[in-house]
Amino acid sequence: MLSDKLILKGDFSILKGKKIAVIGYGNQGYAQANIMRDNGLDVFIGNIQDEYAKRAEKDGFKVYDIPEAFERADVALMLIPDEVQPDVYKSVEGIIKKKDSFVLDFASGYNVASGFIKPPKNVDTVMVAPRMIGEGMVELHREGKGFPVLIGVANDSSGKAWDYAIAIATAIGAIGREGGVAVKSSFEEEALLDLLSEHTWAPLLVATFMAYFDVVTEKYGVSPEATILELYASGELGEIGKAMADFGLFEQLKFHSTTSQYGHLTRAERYYDMVKKVCEEEAEKIINGEFAKEWTLEQMAGKVVLNSLWKKFTNSKLAASEKELYKVLGRRKEG
Ligand code: NAI
Repeated sequence: MLSDKLILKGDFSILKGKKIAVIGYGNQGYAQANIMRDNGLDVFIGNIQDEYAKRAEKDGFKVYDIPEAFERADVALMLIPDEVQPDVYKSVEGIIKKKDSFVLDFASGYNVASGFIKPPKNVDTVMVAPRMIGEGMVELHREGKGFPVLIGVANDSSGKAWDYAIAIATAIGAIGREGGVAVKSSFEEEALLDLLSEHTWAPLLVATFMAYFDVVTEKYGVSPEATILELYASGELGEIGKAMADFGLFEQLKFHSTTSQYGHLTRAERYYDMVKKVCEEEAEKIINGEFAKEWTLEQMAGKVVLNSLWKKFTNSKLAASEKELYKVLGRRKEG
């Protein structure tokens, strides 16, 4: 049933002696730079002058402005937010083009898959996309454990681009350790998987919580406290997610009561066609570039839709009740 795309072990000897610029020192930059330095590699940071640059300096890294970091590097990891990458890339493209060889790595497939960044032919363009937040990566690294990554190659100039992707995955602590695995994928596939999660099950969860809250509190007089604890504040949802990761989607279902199993499976059966249609429609919008266009226009317009939805959702009854509850529970301090 599985394809043969799993890689459990790798080595990063190909990166030894190379000058590695980590561009950005945020969630991913902080994690990847520190883990690679712990692994004995020659790592420095390229950053604009801001708080992140100060943090990198405090952590003992040499920090250069971004063009100088690209000048100095043999390998660069682009670890700044996806929406700023195309402009930053444009500002260093001339530097990259002049190099005999260069490795440019991304932690997400979005910009290359959408055509917003088109690295030149002399550049090995690789992707090592962690399925893990930066803090989690650092924690696992301390425990000697790995984590899953999707890897891909958009341009193989040297003939060694896959070796570089596997080497980076090893150097950032993903593979070669318990729990670690790389899946051979592509920029397009990663973008599809990542965006489709953000456009289907994740927002369906948010919408379901909002609707569930409104129905039981307004129509049936259930207290907001009981409802929010039931939905997510108890931590049960997190435990279920952990059990899915550890035991599997259906094996974890066996830990639930038979009544619960019956409810899960009958309703999943009922919702499947409806949700499949949503998945098909949203996947099509990602594949044909419609979503990329929508998000680019939204950014050009100053994120008006995003800002107004933030206002709408955070002014909801659910958000207001959560604020009160979390203050009482000591989980939130501010006003
Ligand atoms: P982040 O938001 O933590 O990035 C902060 C860094 O970006 C800082 O160093 C800041 O100086 C720099 N930065 C911000 N605006 C800039 C600008 N206009 N010009 C130049 N530098 C700027 O980013 P994060 O979350 O680490 O994401 C980096 C990449 O990793 C993205 O491609 C993302 O999709 C990917 N990724 C992120 C994960 C996460 O843990 N958040 C998980 C897996 C992949």
